[in-house]
Amino acid sequence: QELRSFIRDLPKAELHLHIEGTLEADMIFALAERNKVQLPYADIESLKKAYQFTDLQSFLDLYYAGAAVLQTERDFHDMTWAYLQRAAADGVVHAEIMFDPQTHTSRGVAIETVFAGLASALRQGQQELGISSSLIFSFLRHLSEAEAFATLEQALPLRGQYADLWLSVGLDSSEKGNPPEKFQKVFARCKELGFRRVAHAGEEGPASYVRDALDLLQAERIDHGVRSEEDPALMLRLQQEQVPLTVCPLSNLKLCVVTDLKQHNLKRMLEQGLCVTVNSDDPAYFGGYILDNYMAVAQALDLSREQLVQLAQNSMNARF
Ligand code: HPA
Ligand code: ZN
Repeated sequence: QELRSFIRDLPKAELHLHIEGTLEADMIFALAERNKVQLPYADIESLKKAYQFTDLQSFLDLYYAGAAVLQTERDFHDMTWAYLQRAAADGVVHAEIMFDPQTHTSRGVAIETVFAGLASALRQGQQELGISSSLIFSFLRHLSEAEAFATLEQALPLRGQYADLWLSVGLDSSEKGNPPEKFQKVFARCKELGFRRVAHAGEEGPASYVRDALDLLQAERIDHGVRSEEDPALMLRLQQEQVPLTVCPLSNLKLCVVTDLKQHNLKRMLEQGLCVTVNSDDPAYFGGYILDNYMAVAQALDLSREQLVQLAQNSMNARF
């Protein structure tokens, strides 16, 4: 309890959070009812029972299915507002939030609807909760680069209206078989347009994807990156260039990236001087928000107070 309040009171930034992954099972049911969407589960409990994942893809299948209840501006607002209140309670002072536009536009939801709902909640969070925030427009890597370009083009007319929030682009979804090079052109275009860049790499994919995300996508932060350890030269570079890694311990556990948190390499990477941060990824699915993630590694890896302060400080330094 004392440890928990110590960590809660550290000013923290959440840098790896998929807003669609904050949709709690009870909210999925509430929105399904509100929007007259039929769900293939009898009740909240049976949906939650399905949250037993063996790898990234087994999670993504449920995550995209859950996101299908989001239809109106109010839905996107309510989801985001619920997250911000939860984050504030954990001592988050800054959040850079990923969203997957293609998950919604492919179902016929207008990109305007998505932006409007997310933005109104983020602006309310800045006013009422004192949480500064921005959006990371994330491309789905299982789709083509042409589709990523088309989504970007659809959204660019809104950029002026959301210039205070839409600062960056990202890359998520199924990593294996979808290497960074597939999105080299669209990331180059985004850089030209002045967007900051992040990419998931080295979660399930090899260390070479981390290197390629840096070299081919000009990524400024790596989401996950835990498999970097397989390449000592890359580890040296991450340390020297202080490339932030947005690590998500409970996600890694639930998606079987690690078998046991005691085996997690977060502490080793921290002790090698890498800019490691702790984040929650998809908290509604992985069983914990950011404070739960800090607590889990603090206990499993016996982190010192100094190391916990360092993790929080790293997250603040790694903000865009
Ligand atoms: N990895 C890749 N794609 C994702 C994730 C993740 O951890 N969460 C939501 N989309
Ligand atoms: Zn993620």
